[in-house]
Amino acid sequence: MYITILSRGPQLYSTQSLFRAAQRHGHRVRVMNHTQFDIVIENGMPKLLYLGDELPQIDAVIPRIGSSVSYYGTSVVRQFEQLKIFSTVSSSAIRRSRDKLECLQLLSNCGLGIPKTVFSYDMTDSNYIIDAIGGPPMIIKLLSGTHGAGVVLAESYNAAQSVIDAFAATRQRFLVQEFIAEAKGSDLRALVVDGEVVAAMKRKARPGDFRSNLHRGGSSIHVKLTSAEEETAIKAAELLGLKVAGVDMLESDRGPLVLEVNPSPGLEGIEKTTQVDIAGKIIEYIERSISTC
Ligand SMILES: Nc1ncnc2c1ncn2[C@@H]1O[C@H](COP(=O)(O)OP(=O)(O)O)[C@@H](O)[C@H]1O
Ligand SMILES: [Mg+2]
Repeated sequence: MYITILSRGPQLYSTQSLFRAAQRHGHRVRVMNHTQFDIVIENGMPKLLYLGDELPQIDAVIPRIGSSVSYYGTSVVRQFEQLKIFSTVSSSAIRRSRDKLECLQLLSNCGLGIPKTVFSYDMTDSNYIIDAIGGPPMIIKLLSGTHGAGVVLAESYNAAQSVIDAFAATRQRFLVQEFIAEAKGSDLRALVVDGEVVAAMKRKARPGDFRSNLHRGGSSIHVKLTSAEEETAIKAAELLGLKVAGVDMLESDRGPLVLEVNPSPGLEGIEKTTQVDIAGKIIEYIERSISTC
């Protein structure tokens, strides 16, 4: 099979891990940079050019689309779909899950636990928003943030006002959320492939931080999820239409709460922590899907 990894970083751990797994499974694999495709739209003749040339044979693509080029990357994946080339994650699912608000709206409507969240048209009235969430401590979060960079904990009324005013003044889109204190700076990351949790880890924030992202210096351990956590992760990926997903959850007094669902989860932290060959599971998912097409 001819497999293409859509990635801007051929040397990145996740890209390399997928590359080696595809080779181990006997496939021809190449890395193509999604920002170097041209999308050509003509009546009944969808087309993609790569570096100005016609596409080589491709049976399946594995999108590894970073959030900084999400719009263009998603458009390229959509064009592969028009060409009837199999993609491990669909363009519409990538788009939906990149927006934290849309993601939470979809999940909450189907009975999954999420932290209470407020989003208003006019986010400039900070007192109103702070009261709507029930007061501090509270989380203020950019809708399209990633790696914990756009997530702020406001412990006092004044701090919340300042952050909301600053985000509103710079026209950032953000939401406010109840702070789940009992999670104690930890969260769970479950890797779901084709409706199954293939690996899970617990991440803990470094001392003094509440954000458990490994990019922020958090540490991780391999864990076995409870059945409620496992069901929540699988349901969240399913509701967003993601066949490959990294589901982030907080352990709360009222059960697992989903924070977000990542369509291009990093593999380095979770493969090293759990010793599970997740890239291999993704390749096996492609093999199953293409043999039944
Ligand atoms: N409502 C919350 N209560 C407690 N901790 C939170 C909350 N929201 C986020 N966090 C912490 O911040 C981290 C980053 O938040 P997240 O929503 O996943 O944004 P990002 O996309 O930047 O990773 C989470 O992994 C968690 O440790
Ligand atoms: Mg996260």
